[in-house]
Amino acid sequence: MFDPARTRMDALRLVRPELLAMLGYEPIEPVDVLAEELGVPIDRIVKLDGNENPYGPSPRVKEALADFDLYHIYPDPEQRRVRQALADYLGVDSEHIVVGNGSDELLELIACLFLSPGDAAINCGPTFGMYSFVSEIRGARVVEVPRRQDFSLDVAVVQAAARRGAKVIFLASPNNPSGNTISTSELEAVLSTGILTVVDEAYVEFSDRSFVSLVPQRDNLIVLRTFSKWAGLAGLRAGYGAFPKGIAELMRKVKMPYNMNVAAQVAILASLADVESLSERVQAIVRERERLSGELAALPFLRTFPSRANFILCRVQSIDAREVSRRLRQQGIFVRYFDTPGVKDCIRITVGKPEHSERLLAALREIGGSLAP
Ligand SMILES: Cc1ncc(COP(=O)(O)O)c(C=O)c1O
Repeated sequence: MFDPARTRMDALRLVRPELLAMLGYEPIEPVDVLAEELGVPIDRIVKLDGNENPYGPSPRVKEALADFDLYHIYPDPEQRRVRQALADYLGVDSEHIVVGNGSDELLELIACLFLSPGDAAINCGPTFGMYSFVSEIRGARVVEVPRRQDFSLDVAVVQAAARRGAKVIFLASPNNPSGNTISTSELEAVLSTGILTVVDEAYVEFSDRSFVSLVPQRDNLIVLRTFSKWAGLAGLRAGYGAFPKGIAELMRKVKMPYNMNVAAQVAILASLADVESLSERVQAIVRERERLSGELAALPFLRTFPSRANFILCRVQSIDAREVSRRLRQQGIFVRYFDTPGVKDCIRITVGKPEHSERLLAALREIGGSLAP
């Protein structure tokens, strides 16, 4: 007799076994879910766990989205206007540009294009969890080359792993969660091995060092960017990247034709027409980062690491980091707590508006006082 429950079990047995065994990506929760969990209104939540932009998008984005009247028509599968605007913004030819539903999608497509089951991808942790996630989904082997204590790259070990046949390396610059950048000489040393090098510049607007102008000269360098951080569009999912032309063409071939929705395309064009005011907000965040770093460093139980991004990594010393994060949470303040190699006992704090910093600092002083040995 037909038994629907049994059929479901049998179908599960057909799933690729490595995916059943794999740990999932650990995403952050949205603000309404956090507010509901705590039983407080949304405006009491200080959300400093997702490296989002507290100022939101340019007002021109909201106007452009309200005025747009072609929501019922499929988007341009080649995203010509957006790619041209990005090419003008970056100063590279639009043939180099690929856009995605967030830069996460581009990471997924890179893995799709380059990683067959059993291939090796280098991951330099502690870093953004998406690199190992997209590699593992493809059945690739993740070769870990841990960063040094100061979070700099161990270039000699990376080179050795590349020579042993790893195909791809993912490097965030500035790195999440440590906030440091890679240097030109480190990048050159990695590129010289011939490995496909993906530099993820999600936070580059908060720093002073980009490698995007090198892309047209190098055939193994990809630079990824996003509108999630500097332009306040994390919810719309608008990522892009500069690729060697041949790779860009293949990326556009294997992507879903309508991978970027029209709203994200409208928002990108409106943001690029308002770079000046978005840059002022970026500068406000950078100033606040420096001020907040100084205040955090003055707390006896925190050690801060220098950051070129919109967040600050702190090591919690002499008191329990998990407990600090838990007590902040009870007060409606959300930061990212880490318990993983290289960032044990660390919290990562997104730089918000000055008033967010004040609530955070007051809470930390109080928690530090009550937990002090
Ligand atoms: C290093 C890094 N790259 C990429 C992303 C994701 O960017 P997007 O929102 O464009 O998918 C993040 C998000 O936190 C990140 O930290």
